[in-house]
Amino acid sequence: MARPLAVCRVDEIPEGRGRVVCLDDRPIALFRDGDRIVAIDDRCPHAGASLGRGWIEGGAVVCPLHRWRFSLGDGRCLWGGGPGDRVPLLPVEVREGWVWLVESSGGDRS
Ligand code: FES
Repeated sequence: MARPLAVCRVDEIPEGRGRVVCLDDRPIALFRDGDRIVAIDDRCPHAGASLGRGWIEGGAVVCPLHRWRFSLGDGRCLWGGGPGDRVPLLPVEVREGWVWLVESSGGDRS
């Protein structure tokens, strides 16, 4: 059964940069783009770099290794990869300054 977990405070995520947290031993990259908090899988589908070490440009996360770009809106690759390349987004809630993610009980991680 999934349950939400508080993973960090909003102010611990640098504006325009990433922060990596773990959820069920799965690294998750959090980004703060203005008032919006986005959680994506931390692994770049190109060669596995940590997307949490990347940065935001024009509403997209830029991978620090080869600069592929992924939409913060739906995770699809906007530059560098093919149409099937994307990163999974996770549901996020912000409550009283804390970022909450929904813990998965296993299963699909795509
Ligand atoms: S590992 Fe991310 S673009 Fe190559």
